[in-house]
Amino acid sequence: MPDVETRTRAADAASEAPALALRDVGVVFGAEANRPVLANISLDVREGEFLSIVGPSGCGKTTLLRLLAGLMKPTTGDVLFEGKRVDGPSRARAIVFQDYANALLPWRTVAGNIALPLERAGLSKPEREARVAALVAKMGLDAAANRYPAQLSGGMQQRVQIARCLAQKPRVMLMDEPFGALDALTRQTLQDELLALAAEQRVTTVFITHDLEEAIYLGDRVIALAANPGRVVETIDVGLPKPRNQLTTREDPAFLARRHRLFGLLQGH
Ligand SMILES: Nc1ncnc2c1ncn2[C@@H]1O[C@H](COP(=O)(O)OP(=O)(O)O)[C@@H](O)[C@H]1O
Ligand SMILES: [Mg+2]
Repeated sequence: MPDVETRTRAADAASEAPALALRDVGVVFGAEANRPVLANISLDVREGEFLSIVGPSGCGKTTLLRLLAGLMKPTTGDVLFEGKRVDGPSRARAIVFQDYANALLPWRTVAGNIALPLERAGLSKPEREARVAALVAKMGLDAAANRYPAQLSGGMQQRVQIARCLAQKPRVMLMDEPFGALDALTRQTLQDELLALAAEQRVTTVFITHDLEEAIYLGDRVIALAANPGRVVETIDVGLPKPRNQLTTREDPAFLARRHRLFGLLQGH
């Protein structure tokens, strides 16, 4: 069995720009200049990669995702999308929030929620209906298409949010602890659905979680953040075979070795 391979990622010789990049990013809120929330963050997300970012509560994970989404600007440094500086939100970078109940419009049906970005994009009604029907089928929402969010389980509501995100055909999916509020079994089902979807749609994914095992299970790489100030403490190439399997992957000695490594780091050893 190979040792745990850990390394800080060096710049790739590849000529293509990374899908996303942070270059020496720092964030300070308000007047608290002596207490930066994020400091000296540099990282690349490769095209098509599934990158997990893990770290303790309050270390700046959501702030990092908001930077990548273009919902806020860094105090220092640059945020790049396909080589160009991010200067605002874009349909090419879709966000999935943990709080699915507030992310969905309660007065719209499942189909109506999924159609939302298609309406904004100005698609015709027949085009919208065809795309919504395809997504409803893909996400196993057929029986729920005409129901309202409040009539659905948490897992189903989160599927609707993911379907709505995919409807806009994003090149990047930014996910902020999307499964944090779900029960363990539903969570595992959605993890596997997400991995299959991300591979099939070839969408670059940044997945934020505070769950080490979830980060390793899903990720091609895992970046670990520490708090105060939020900073990168480790980058791990996961290197476990795909497709991942809820039983065998989690029992794989390499999985456990990575888990031990990250656990130690996040405990501050
Ligand atoms: N808009 C804001 N104004 C002031 N402080 C903020 C703001 N957003 C986040 N923070 C602070 O930044 C730190 C990191 O927050 P956040 O990115 O939400 O962390 P995480 O998602 O890892 O829990 C926290 O201390 C939080 O209170
Ligand atoms: Mg957060």
